[in-house]
Amino acid sequence: MKANLKYTEAGKFEETRFEKIHNVIFKNSDLASIEVAKEIANLIKQKQQENKTCVLGLATGSSPINVYEELVRMHKEEGLSFQNVITFNLDEYYPMDKDNTQSYWYFMHENLFNHIDIIPENINVPSGTVPQDEIYQYCIDYELKIKEAGGLDFQLLGIGRSGHIGFNEPGSHYNSGTRNITLDHITRVDAASAFLGIEQVPRVAITMGISTIRNAKRVILLAWGINKASVIKDTIEGEITSDVPASYLQDHDNITFVLDEGASSELTRIKTPWLVKNCIWTDDLITKAVVWLSELLNKSVLKITDKDYNNNGMSSLLVEQGSAYNLNIKMFNKLQHTITGWPGGKPNADDTNRPERNTPTKKRVIIFSPHPDDDVISMGGTFDRLVEQGHEVHIAYQTSGNIAVSDKEALKFIEVALTLNGENSSFQKIIKDLNDKKEYDIDTIEVRKLKGIIRRKESLASTRYLGLPDKNVHFLNLPFYETGKIKKNKLGDSDIKIMTDLISDIKPHQIYAAGDLADPHGTHKVSLDALFIALEQLKPNKYMDDCWVWLYRGAWHEWETHEIEMAVPMSPDQVLKKRQAIFYHQSQKDGVLFQGDDSREFWMRAEDRNKETAKKYNDLGLADYAALEAFRRYYF
Ligand code: F6R
Repeated sequence: MKANLKYTEAGKFEETRFEKIHNVIFKNSDLASIEVAKEIANLIKQKQQENKTCVLGLATGSSPINVYEELVRMHKEEGLSFQNVITFNLDEYYPMDKDNTQSYWYFMHENLFNHIDIIPENINVPSGTVPQDEIYQYCIDYELKIKEAGGLDFQLLGIGRSGHIGFNEPGSHYNSGTRNITLDHITRVDAASAFLGIEQVPRVAITMGISTIRNAKRVILLAWGINKASVIKDTIEGEITSDVPASYLQDHDNITFVLDEGASSELTRIKTPWLVKNCIWTDDLITKAVVWLSELLNKSVLKITDKDYNNNGMSSLLVEQGSAYNLNIKMFNKLQHTITGWPGGKPNADDTNRPERNTPTKKRVIIFSPHPDDDVISMGGTFDRLVEQGHEVHIAYQTSGNIAVSDKEALKFIEVALTLNGENSSFQKIIKDLNDKKEYDIDTIEVRKLKGIIRRKESLASTRYLGLPDKNVHFLNLPFYETGKIKKNKLGDSDIKIMTDLISDIKPHQIYAAGDLADPHGTHKVSLDALFIALEQLKPNKYMDDCWVWLYRGAWHEWETHEIEMAVPMSPDQVLKKRQAIFYHQSQKDGVLFQGDDSREFWMRAEDRNKETAKKYNDLGLADYAALEAFRRYYF
């Protein structure tokens, strides 16, 4: 990875003319993290050869986790030594004890320092326990200490959706140094799940300043997932502004943004490549371009003219296709053919232009649901149709979802059980455990079990309501999830075996799964990885030739319209039925623990999203449905 690659690599300049920061896009964050770790390791080794210290500025959060993991691997397996390394962390919450599992001090030790040979005195993380009236001097001293160490040779950064680097929130000054700062609302929302609710997220932090960061000799910023796509676009393509503090990095002369596909997806050259270069017009790109143009001009597909194409960077497409008329009809038909009320295939109908095959007429179907409720939230309408149309539907809840049940909810249930039971020492113990639990304490095994049972019973209420026999509901309890903490284990063989056992037992014709890629460490992504690995292992079996995989999106994002390959309409009645099915997941109503950045309840989000998809289809000139659920096929 070399800085300013764009100015030296022939042909790249045209593509990147909107971009003001050098960036490299990787297929996924794992590959990218390995490259970044290599660069850091090389710097450490180079400094060792020169008999010098290597001063690293480090970040916390989900983005650098795999970089640290790779550095630890290099230390253990390749003998990379950190004896000459001095580190300065960007920030710490305030007030915050070191031993609090939410502290950045704890994070750094858990993910890096405890596993390498760094000299403890060389570790610097801003302290979250300095008395209030000493913070000012403490921050000046932190700056001085960096200077005395020779300045930062390398600074690793993540980026917040507020545009922050470190905790330099919007409004931060270009020349700012280390100081305390009030956290932006978006930042607190994003941290809420780690703190089990926004109320617990500290309001203040100590952070290195913009100037401190900009003085680093080399800077790498990491961003993964579509959640970061829009702030990445603003930072790389927008003006330098205190509204997006990361944009101050535009004039750093040795900086690289390392992105995965999701985080880069809003960059002009990725989102609308026809605006920056000559394109090879694949079918997918044509669909993307035509849908984009129709939305931009607020015109249905059939009304787009030759001039519209020419004026919007698509003249070469027009030449290839002959005329707007031909292209429009072709696109209209393609989009039209994604719509079907028969997600399992329409028996005895010509299926040439349908998303699914018509045979076998009765299919075996597995719907994988990462948590016990994603099935109905994301595809409750399609689930309902599949059952009604006589397919053998199985629901497989991949994780227990126990961590998302609040203590208050759990207490309510166990008190009911105790009242029914009279004296019961194990129930009394659970009540005591819940009452004695301190903030951040991990639930006892019994409490976790109780919370898991609550989610199971809610799920069964919901699947029964949609007409599914209990024997078709599978609770997989994948072990990777069962840490009792937000941080989950890595996928292991036992997770994959549970997945392959179920698939090989049912031999499905259709699999539905949550295709969420927004958060690389999130349960949805890990659950999806578990499926992908299982599919790879089972692929050699003959029955897998008949298995089609459809991905739905979880509670947070919908597929882009041009990505949708199957759209299942819902009538107003079905919308209400789906709502009711979601209501059975009572522990997830009324202020759930993992709300994300949207304070509406799940049923509202799901309904709005399905209505929005229907509106988008209608705006393209297709039929006007109450709601649509969307899927994209995955080929393995
Ligand atoms: C962390 C820090 C923050 C994070 C940013 C992104 O030390 O300074 O700026 O880098 O909030 O967080 P993640 O990586 O969790 O998305």
